[in-house]
Amino acid sequence: MARPLLPARPPLENATPDDLLRLARTPFTNALYRLHESASVADLRAALDLLWRQIDDPAGVLRAAADETDVTTFSRRRLREALDQIAAAFTLERARYYLDRLARAALETRTGAINDIDLNRWKEYDDILTDSLWLFDRRDASGAHHAGFWGNFVPQIPYQLMRRYTRRGDLVIDPFAGSGTTLIEGRRLGRPTIGVELNPMVAEQTRVTLAGEPDGRHVLCALEVGDSTTFDWRATLERYGFRSAQLAILHPPYHDIIRFSEDPRDLANAPSIDAFLARLGAVVERVTEVLDAGRYLALVLGDKYANGEWIPLGFLGMQEVLRHGFTLKSIVVKNFEQTTGKRSQKELWRYRALVGGFYVFKHEYIFIFRKA
Ligand SMILES: C[S@@+](CC[C@H](N)C(=O)[O-])C[C@H]1O[C@@H](n2cnc3c(N)ncnc32)[C@H](O)[C@@H]1O
Repeated sequence: MARPLLPARPPLENATPDDLLRLARTPFTNALYRLHESASVADLRAALDLLWRQIDDPAGVLRAAADETDVTTFSRRRLREALDQIAAAFTLERARYYLDRLARAALETRTGAINDIDLNRWKEYDDILTDSLWLFDRRDASGAHHAGFWGNFVPQIPYQLMRRYTRRGDLVIDPFAGSGTTLIEGRRLGRPTIGVELNPMVAEQTRVTLAGEPDGRHVLCALEVGDSTTFDWRATLERYGFRSAQLAILHPPYHDIIRFSEDPRDLANAPSIDAFLARLGAVVERVTEVLDAGRYLALVLGDKYANGEWIPLGFLGMQEVLRHGFTLKSIVVKNFEQTTGKRSQKELWRYRALVGGFYVFKHEYIFIFRKA
């Protein structure tokens, strides 16, 4: 069964004021340390009950005043769960361990080098996927996102990638920008983005789309018209005041399964699979020049079917990237969206599959690489 659509925003950033508890940090952590002194588990449970009532009281002493700066913010549900976990402990020793962990979450932020995920609060990131099977039952169609561009990916893909592999302010580059899904997500998440699109008409429409997405975080969101196989990223980055990029998201045409333009430089118009892969390799090479070492590149690619044969384009593309000094970190399988065009042909494809002895594509890949 398909999972429900992910929450479009991270819980702490998108929570309504009712979901978020702004607590006065020092009084809150002092209250936790006082619980340490409980003489028995029963006393501790009674004290936790009282603590929750103080937390829950909008006028209570543990709530931060509007002008307070020593503040810690929790999602209401997660904090309740954390207190319940402490109350469920069978020994004081275990309960103290959980109390310390909660106090640490209030006092310290522990992030890694490549994202803003606070590892002291890792349970709060319900929205971040860590499994290799991504099932989305519908695309995120909020704001400027729309499904009108045939061949765009679901916004959840760049969302997941940026949340895992970038910090706020990191530069994300997309050499196959299309309708600008990556750029819209970057704008929302506070990640500057530069996209390149070959087709000037698509780029023009994308600029109109981008203008419809509120620019709340004031980050760069640039779209260049160009051929990514020869594109000069270094000069472009310099022009925008950047020295390097921290994430590259590549969503090329799946060779010729969708015709994007008449332009011979279009990867969809490569005369053979080998030519397609050579062009993909050229794009990877260009991008790699500006990607920081230790940072990530994601390739979103699906397979194709031709002359009675399943062509594993995804894995061939993966091999191509591996030739450019990357290590493979993950292969994610994502369910394939039914586009409007395909839906009408669904029955026909089922018939063809039964006759031809093959299976109808329902998945594509997201290959995740780290630059050595
Ligand atoms: C699969 S679509 C990308 C869709 C995009 N991820 C989105 O969500 O809208 C591939 C895009 O790459 C563009 N493209 C193909 N060859 C290119 C090239 N050599 N340089 C730059 N863009 C190219 C196509 O015009 C098309 O818009």
